[in-house]
Amino acid sequence: MEAYKNILSKRDSRSYSGQEISDEVLQRILQAGRMAGSSKNTQPWGFIVIRGDEQKASIAACGDFAQHVPNAPLVIGVVLTPGGSGFDAGRAAQNMMLAAWDEGITSCPVALHHRECAVEALGLPEDHAPAMLLAFGYPESEESRHRGVTRNAMDDIVHQERW
Ligand SMILES: Cc1cc2nc3c(=O)[nH]c(=O)nc-3n(C[C@H](O)[C@H](O)[C@H](O)COP(=O)(O)O)c2cc1C
Repeated sequence: MEAYKNILSKRDSRSYSGQEISDEVLQRILQAGRMAGSSKNTQPWGFIVIRGDEQKASIAACGDFAQHVPNAPLVIGVVLTPGGSGFDAGRAAQNMMLAAWDEGITSCPVALHHRECAVEALGLPEDHAPAMLLAFGYPESEESRHRGVTRNAMDDIVHQERW
């Protein structure tokens, strides 16, 4: 899939078929996250691969809108090491989701609203921060790929020279 088509067609999906994601594909997804640029190349992240049912349920309980997490065959927790910013985490996360989509795997970022819960569930050192969960899976059907929400018009978001 060409990059532009991949980017434009990627939508966040919350229902997944039971098909497992192979280790080979998982490695490509992680490699895409690893290669993201970061401020001063600090690479302030770690990725936690979660495939066990018990751990999926534990971490899903730390988000208010994480009902689909237990049904995803693969979940990756994006963790920020000290000094990292949300922008860094976002770059790595989007890289992983786009790489997955190129393999036909859909995904959805999931916020961890309850920080202490996530720190505990993920076993994080005190100075590390849970940034985001990413749920991955092959689409259940064509329709389940996304909810069909739209984007703001180009004219409403693009400004020339000044706001
Ligand atoms: C920072 C961030 C947090 C999000 N948190 C959640 C979440 O907790 N649960 C969820 O189902 N979707 C979550 N999403 C997905 C958004 O709802 C989704 O990106 C948006 O509705 C656009 O969906 P689309 O790409 O399918 O059009 C999150 C997205 C972002 C960028």
